[in-house]
Amino acid sequence: MSEAIERAADILAQAKSVVALTGAGISVESGIPPFRGKGGLWETMDPMAVAHIDAFLDNPKRVWELLIKDMKTILDKARPNAGHTGLVELERLGRLQTIITQNVDGLHQMAGSSDVIEFHGNFAWQRCLDCGQRVSTAGINLAQIPPQCSCGGVLRPDCVFFGEMIPPAALVRSQRVSAACDVMLVIGTSATVQPAASMPFIAKDNGAVIIEINPEPTPLTGHISSLPLMGGGVSIMPRLVAAVRKRLNSP
Ligand code: OAD
Repeated sequence: MSEAIERAADILAQAKSVVALTGAGISVESGIPPFRGKGGLWETMDPMAVAHIDAFLDNPKRVWELLIKDMKTILDKARPNAGHTGLVELERLGRLQTIITQNVDGLHQMAGSSDVIEFHGNFAWQRCLDCGQRVSTAGINLAQIPPQCSCGGVLRPDCVFFGEMIPPAALVRSQRVSAACDVMLVIGTSATVQPAASMPFIAKDNGAVIIEINPEPTPLTGHISSLPLMGGGVSIMPRLVAAVRKRLNSP
């Protein structure tokens, strides 16, 4: 492992444009369960029954009760971990420009990363199904499920459900930065949900080296990602950042 970290550090230290693609795995050590893999939410719940827009519109109360209410409780408590802060450090070292995240937890921004593309929206906001008003999730009343807007309409998280489009600006910019980077750091994603999972392919097609951090192999491992660092973000990121810092002679 140390050898792979040293090789990844060599590549990052020489890179001109680095993009990170992150997924639920980077926030696992902040107490947020992933969707797939060990302890994943979809082991006990059917995503089509709780995370598809049709399921939500059919019965918002049910989806709020089964999934969204608990998500709010968990995300309210979550704080960035060493995986998130490691990416902030890489940005400070000039070795990371943009993060494309599939996460809706806002932890990259809370850690201090300055350019985060939210591919699947952000749970910090709710949107009224009737009038479209945006309401802060922090202020909603969970005594009433589903929570309502002041107009009486049902509130939905301002996140992308299955069956919905990726916000066009996020999609177009993600494709652009993926095509332009010379290194992509893929952290904590099963790389199975499209179109986010196509970003490493776009990067690789355009000549980038793909470095992957994940405790389990993914469809990218050894095929698209030439440098898999097998482990959790909290254990790998600080070691990787320290090795990059050493090469840059940065204190
Ligand atoms: P997944 O839950 O599919 O994958 C999480 C990945 O993180 C798995 O490959 C795990 O092995 C890995 N992992 C677990 N612990 C880790 C750790 N400590 N450090 C690093 N990696 C770890 O999450 P995503 O790929 O983000 O979409 O899922 C993509 C999308 O599917 C989500 O955005 C969500 C979901 O359904 C929607 O809801 C639209």
